[in-house]
Amino acid sequence: MRPNISFDEVEADFREVFEGGMFTRGHHCEAFRHDIVRYTGASHAHLVTSATTALWVCLKLLKIKAGDEVIVSDFSFPATANVVEDLGARPVFADVSLSTFNMTPSALEAAVTPATRAVIFVDALGNPTGVTAIRDLCRRLGLPLIEDAACAIGSAEAGARCGTISDATCFSFHPRKLLCTGEGGAITTNRADWADWLDVKLAHGARGMKGVALDFVNYGYNFRLPELQSVMGRKQLAKLDNIIDERNRIRDRYIDVMAPLGFVAQSVGSDVRYNVQSMVFKVPTGCSRDGLIGKAQEPWYRDHNWHLRNEQLHILRREIRRAAAKLDLAGSEHDYTALLSGAGCFGGR
Ligand SMILES: Cc1ncc(COP(=O)(O)O)c(C=O)c1O
Repeated sequence: MRPNISFDEVEADFREVFEGGMFTRGHHCEAFRHDIVRYTGASHAHLVTSATTALWVCLKLLKIKAGDEVIVSDFSFPATANVVEDLGARPVFADVSLSTFNMTPSALEAAVTPATRAVIFVDALGNPTGVTAIRDLCRRLGLPLIEDAACAIGSAEAGARCGTISDATCFSFHPRKLLCTGEGGAITTNRADWADWLDVKLAHGARGMKGVALDFVNYGYNFRLPELQSVMGRKQLAKLDNIIDERNRIRDRYIDVMAPLGFVAQSVGSDVRYNVQSMVFKVPTGCSRDGLIGKAQEPWYRDHNWHLRNEQLHILRREIRRAAAKLDLAGSEHDYTALLSGAGCFGGR
C-alpha cells in the first residue's frame, strides 16, 4: 500500500510549524484529536506514538499485572499479545472464525477463567465483523473490552464506527494502514474517567496548568504524537471515506475475478463497512500459497507491481500460545498457512 499523502498536501502547514517553532502540543495535534472525535463519533481521542503504545497504555489503565490473564484474538500481529506479556500478565489466545478471522463469542467464553481481567478483540486486517457481539458478551461477563483496531480506521459495524463500540479502541497510523503518519496511533473512548486518566498520564502526569507552570498531579509518560505527524493525519482523515470507497470498488473487482478460480475472500458482515486495509484470500485447496508468493517475486510480476505476502499470526509465540491457552486453535492455525494478502507495503516494515 502506498501511503495516501503527498508532500504538496502538507507543505504549507509544515512551513508554518517550522516558522512558528511549535513542534509538539500545538494546534495541529489538538485539531487532529478533535477530527478523530468527529470522524469516529467517540467522545474522546488521544494521540500516541503507535498502536502498540496505545494497547500498552490501556492495559496500564486497567492495572493489568503479573498473575492476570488477558484474552486476545489468536490471529493478529504479535504486538497484541506482547503488551500483555510485557506487564507480566498472561495472554490467553481465543480462536477465530475461519471466515472473518475474528474472535468468536464461543471461543471467548471458553477462555474465561477467574484470573481474566480484560479482553483484546482484533479487527483482523481492518474487518470489525463480530465486535458488537463480543462487546455485548463482555458487558454480560463484566470484562473491559479493548479493541485492537490498528488496521481499522474508518471501518464500522451496525452503523457504529470503530472507535465507539468498545470501552477503548486503539488505532495505528503506521504506513501499512490507511492513514499514515510514519509511526503513530490513537486511543478513543466514550468513558470520561478513562479519558481523564489518559489526559494526565500521557502528559507526564500533568493536569493542565496551575498558574504559570504545569500542574503535576501524578507520575506519567510521554507517548505524544508531534505536530508534523498530526498535519499528515488530518489531511488523510479528511479524504478517508473516498479512499475506502475506492478500495472497496477494487476489492469487488478482485473478488469477481478470483472467486470463480476458488480463492475465498475474507468474509465481512453485511452490516459492516470494511476499510479494506488488506485484501486477503484463502488459496484454493491444492494450491501453494508460498508458491504464489514466490511467483510474484519473479521479474515480470515485480515490474507489474504484484505485491503478495503471507499473513501472520502470533507465529513466533506458537509454543507459548499452545501451552498457555490449552485451547483448540485449529481455526487460526489453518488460516495462517492458507492466507494470501494483496497489500504490499511501500512505507516501512
Ligand atoms: C492488529 C495489530 N495490532 C497492533 C499493531 C501494531 O501497530 P503499531 O505498528 O502502530 O505499533 C499492528 C501493526 O501492524 C497490527 O496489525
